[in-house]
Amino acid sequence: MDGRRQTAMTVDPRNAPEQLWAPLNDPAFWAGDPAPHFARLRREAPVLWNPAFGYWALAHHADVMTVSRDAATFCSSQGILATEIGVTYPFPPTTMHTDAPEHSRYRELVQPGFAPRVMRALETRVRTRAAAFADRLAAGTAVDFAEAVAIPFPVAVICDLLGLDHVDDARVLRWSDAAIPGSSPMTQKEIEAAREDQRATLLAATIARRGADGDDLTTALANAEIDGDRLSDDEILMFQNQLLVAGNETTRNMISGGMAALATRPETWARLRAEPALVASAVEEWLRWTTPVISFMRTATRATELGGVPIAAGEPVLMLYASANRDESVFGPTADEFHVDRTPNPHVAFGFGPHFCLGAALARLEGRALLDELLERFATVELAGEVVRTESPAIAGIRALPLLLR
Ligand code: HEM
Repeated sequence: MDGRRQTAMTVDPRNAPEQLWAPLNDPAFWAGDPAPHFARLRREAPVLWNPAFGYWALAHHADVMTVSRDAATFCSSQGILATEIGVTYPFPPTTMHTDAPEHSRYRELVQPGFAPRVMRALETRVRTRAAAFADRLAAGTAVDFAEAVAIPFPVAVICDLLGLDHVDDARVLRWSDAAIPGSSPMTQKEIEAAREDQRATLLAATIARRGADGDDLTTALANAEIDGDRLSDDEILMFQNQLLVAGNETTRNMISGGMAALATRPETWARLRAEPALVASAVEEWLRWTTPVISFMRTATRATELGGVPIAAGEPVLMLYASANRDESVFGPTADEFHVDRTPNPHVAFGFGPHFCLGAALARLEGRALLDELLERFATVELAGEVVRTESPAIAGIRALPLLLR
């Protein structure tokens, strides 16, 4: 069903009342629960001009799908975050910041690094890592689950993926922190030192893998070749950097957000222990419910329309994945409820279309592996304090998640 047809447009989308768009510009809004406001946007202004930033906010699943699918009309090369409007991105750009034909070339060259063969080779290691993190948790003792598990676990997995077994996880965590401004209390000098350490280590690993055999992603990137075309060292470094952010920040918040949802639903935890076959669909619901990437942006390359609203060439559109994933016209009357057996579950947590998340299979594997290990060890989980969320409009971040597992 197309939700747009059900909507009575009650406001002029280009000149909507301030109370509709102003919350989107307030950091505190993102640290709270934006779902009720998104529901209002879907009802009253699903295509809404935000004059403070100068973008269209899209609240409906159907519009997010239309934009994601049509990369010729809605491009990525002019920025994918609201903070990138008007900013020239450094060269070489990430895959996320390119359009065809550069994007298709990039994607073809990196795809072998995420092939089912590579994922199968990783599965045993991911499961071993998940078991080791679960083993560190003591039954009956409150723990900050974000700090103890949700943050370091994906970092360890990225090290495995990149074939960096010789590099200490704590070092990689510092690289990841240095890549995201404001995410840690590091000084500028420490950030620069971490970035230089990361560059030198990844470059050395890449050079060492040229011409070598191996199942890891660095080996796949160093040796990828299509008709004599190869990725340059700078392109490989950019891609590895991108993974450190794209693979860590997102997965950690899927895990923290998913565990926060289960910690307040004891009957659901009990059901998952009784029916472990539901773990795969529970992870899909984690993804829909938490939507770790709240929004990404595109820019219209020509005059077009969305949901009957004219969009001018050059105007940015912000896809609110978090709103699309609660759209009643797609998920029905239970859209605002957490159901581990939801099926079908056509969420857009990994995006859609040509830029669909390259790490989706890995993120799903991490979620399943960890949940399996936790369900096996603990009969109950509950909150042991306040969940502290970050104020980002792009990443649904959880800074602290006090849990009590027994
Ligand atoms: C729960 C975890 C994750 C979520 C929610 C997530 C979400 C997303 C989304 C929404 C996009 C679409 C970008 C766009 O359309 O502009 C994307 C792209 C991407 N993701 Fe993920 N991601 C996750 C985990 C990972 C992991 C584990 C990796 C790799 C280790 C990864 C690597 C990438 C890459 C390379 C792209 C760019 C693809 C392209 O531009 O063609 N992601 N991700």
